[in-house]
Amino acid sequence: MTQTTGYTLEAFIEDARKVFAVSDDAKVQAQAIAGHMEKLLQVPNLLDGKLEIPETGTAVVSLHYDDQYGHPAPGFWLMCNAQSKTGATVGVHPHDHGAAWVVYGVYSGAIQQTTWRWAFHEPDRMVPHLDEAGQWIQKPGEVAFFMPGAIHAQKNVNDGPSVVIRLEGQKLTGVVRHSYDLETESATVVA
Ligand SMILES: [Fe+2]
Repeated sequence: MTQTTGYTLEAFIEDARKVFAVSDDAKVQAQAIAGHMEKLLQVPNLLDGKLEIPETGTAVVSLHYDDQYGHPAPGFWLMCNAQSKTGATVGVHPHDHGAAWVVYGVYSGAIQQTTWRWAFHEPDRMVPHLDEAGQWIQKPGEVAFFMPGAIHAQKNVNDGPSVVIRLEGQKLTGVVRHSYDLETESATVVA
């Protein structure tokens, strides 16, 4: 007998749309959608026939693009990716998501999340530093979300591939974002 939770991809998309419809607060939106993402990650065989694990690198599949709702502007995007054991480069360098927020859910495997924040080391208030602010392993069923401007990097730390479902508050290709170099502590706009 097939195990089922009763939840579906379509129900998640409707739940996400309702969240955007009732609040324009980034925190409320990200928190609520992270809660729905936890339910979505429990659905068995969710990505069967949709996502193939690549030999190397990262495979990305679009699950839903919404032209009505989003944050900071319409255009939220639900996608999934498969990060193979070797050659996966998506999101491994420190970056932010501009004025958008992003919810990351691990469907299978494990990814390492690392966060940084700008800080001034007393008493010098003229030199901002990128201080590491946290690091953890995100396992199947676990959700992490990053508020506007938050800096992070993620990488596959599983022995095999990892599958991640991600909701971008606004599809990131349309959002001005920064990429960070930890050596030089520089911030440059993602081209
Ligand atoms: Fe990211």
